[in-house]
Amino acid sequence: MSTSTDGQIAAAEEQKVPKRQTPFSQAFREFIPQGWEPYDSTPPAPLASIPSATAHRDALAGAFPGERLVIPAGTLVRRNNDCDHPFRPHTTFVYYSGLGTDREPNAVLVIDTTPDAPVRDVLYFKPRAPRTDREFYADPTYGEMWVGKRESLEEMSAMTGLVCRDISELDAALAAPGPLRVIRDADPAVTARVDAARADAADPGKGLGAGEAGSKGSAADDEQLDVVSSDARFCKDAWEVEQLRDACRKSKVGFEAMIADLPTAVEKGRGERWMEGIFGLHARHLGNNVGYGSICAAGDHANTLHWVRNDGDLHPGELILIDAGIEVDSLYTADITRTFPINGTFSPAQRKVYQAVYEAQEAAAAVATVGHDHKEIHQAAIRVICEYLAEWGILPVSVDEAVSPEGGQFRRWMVHGTSHHLGLDVHDCSQARREDYSGPLRAGMVVSNEPGIYFKSTDLLVPEEFRGIGVRIEDDILITDGPCQWLSEDCPRQIDEVEAWMREIWAR
Ligand code: GLY
Ligand code: MN
Ligand code: MN
Repeated sequence: MSTSTDGQIAAAEEQKVPKRQTPFSQAFREFIPQGWEPYDSTPPAPLASIPSATAHRDALAGAFPGERLVIPAGTLVRRNNDCDHPFRPHTTFVYYSGLGTDREPNAVLVIDTTPDAPVRDVLYFKPRAPRTDREFYADPTYGEMWVGKRESLEEMSAMTGLVCRDISELDAALAAPGPLRVIRDADPAVTARVDAARADAADPGKGLGAGEAGSKGSAADDEQLDVVSSDARFCKDAWEVEQLRDACRKSKVGFEAMIADLPTAVEKGRGERWMEGIFGLHARHLGNNVGYGSICAAGDHANTLHWVRNDGDLHPGELILIDAGIEVDSLYTADITRTFPINGTFSPAQRKVYQAVYEAQEAAAAVATVGHDHKEIHQAAIRVICEYLAEWGILPVSVDEAVSPEGGQFRRWMVHGTSHHLGLDVHDCSQARREDYSGPLRAGMVVSNEPGIYFKSTDLLVPEEFRGIGVRIEDDILITDGPCQWLSEDCPRQIDEVEAWMREIWAR
C-alpha cells in the first residue's frame, strides 16, 4: 500500500517526462484542457481486412480449444537515445487483428476459447486519454500533441470489429484459470507477464490452486502456437491475394521511376543510393514502406547477395540488379528483382547470362503447380543453370552430380534458394514445419521464383567475359489448380522486353 502524498505522486509523474522537457507549471496544467472542440463522434470506417482477419481467428481458435492465445503487437524499438524506429506490428498480430500500417504499439490480441469466456476475441490497447490527462501534452509516446490523435476504445472497435479493452485489464485476463500460449518473440514484457502468470498458478503459496503446475502452459506450448500460426498463413484468401497484387502493381511504379532516373543516377555518383531513395519515396507514398531493405547492386556488387549498403556508382556498360518490393498499408509485400543494363542495352556476355537465368525461371514456373512440391521449383531452376554452366565449361562435374545432394558445386554461382513463401513477411511462414514449407504446393500459396547467376569479378574459374556479371530475375507467383499466375507480370523480364521497357520510359 502506497503512503505517498498527492505531491509525491505528482513529482514521480513529472520524473517520467524526458529530462530536457521543461516542467509544466500548475497554471499550464489548468489552462491546457480548456477550449477544445469535442472529438468527432463519427466512428471510423471498418477496415477492409475484417472478414479475412475474422476467418483467420476462427481457424486458430478451432486449433486450440479451451485455451487463451496471447498475440502481442510488439513495442517501439529504440534506434538511438530517445528516437525510435518506425513501428511495424508483429506479423502474427497483423494476421489475426487485421491492423496494418503502424498500429498499434503495445497492443495485445487475446483469443480466449475457454468454455466460460464471455467474449472470445479481445484487443487490449492503450486508448486515447482525455485532454485533461497529462498524456495529452506531456507524453511523447502516446500524447496527442506529440504523435497525433489516437483511437478511443469505441473507435478501435469500429475499425477492427473487435471488442476492445484498456491494456491495464490484460493482467486480469492472463491470471484467469486455463492454459495460456503466447507469441514469445513479439513483446518481451508480455511474454514475461505470461510466464509470471504461469509461475503464480504453479505456486501453492499464491492460493491460485495448488498443483496447477504446468496448467497454464509452457514455452514449448508457445512454440506450437508459432508453428500453427505460421502454417496457417501458407494459403492466401482472395483478399490477401489482392493485397499482394496491389503490392506488385505499386512496386512497378517504383521500378519505372528508378528506370526513368537511371541517367541522373549515373551522373550524380552514388547512383545505387539514388535508386534506393527513388524506390523508397514511392514505397512511402503508395504504401506503408519497403517490405525489406532494397538491394541496388551495380556491376560486381550484384554478386553480393544482400548488398544493401548501396553506395556504389553506376557505370554505363554494366548491369544493375535491383531487388525491391513495396509493402502496402495492410503490410503484404511484393518481392521483385530486375536486372537492367545501365545504358539500356545488354552486352553479348550479359545477354548470355541473363538468358540462362530467364530459362531457369521459366523451368521453375512450369513446376509451380498443384501436384508438385515446393522444393521442385528450386530443383527445376538449378538444373537449367547447371546445364548452362556445363555448356560454358565451368561445371567441374556432370549436371546430375552437381544437382545431387552430394554435389552442389553450382552453389559457387548461385548459393541461395529459388523460392520462398511470400505474404506479410517477405520470407513468410518461416516458423512452419519444414515438411510443410517445402512440401506439396497448394492453391492459394504465393511464392517467389528467383533464380540467379553470380560471377564475381575475382572468380578465376569463370570465362573472363562473364566476370563481374550478376543477374537475378525474381517474380511473385500464385499457385492455382492450373498454371501459376505471375502477380508481378506487369514488369517485363525478357531481354528484348526489358530493353524496350527502358527505351519507352526514357522516351516519355
Ligand atoms: N529480397 C529478398 C529475397 O529475394 O528473398
Ligand atoms: Mn525473394
Ligand atoms: Mn527479393
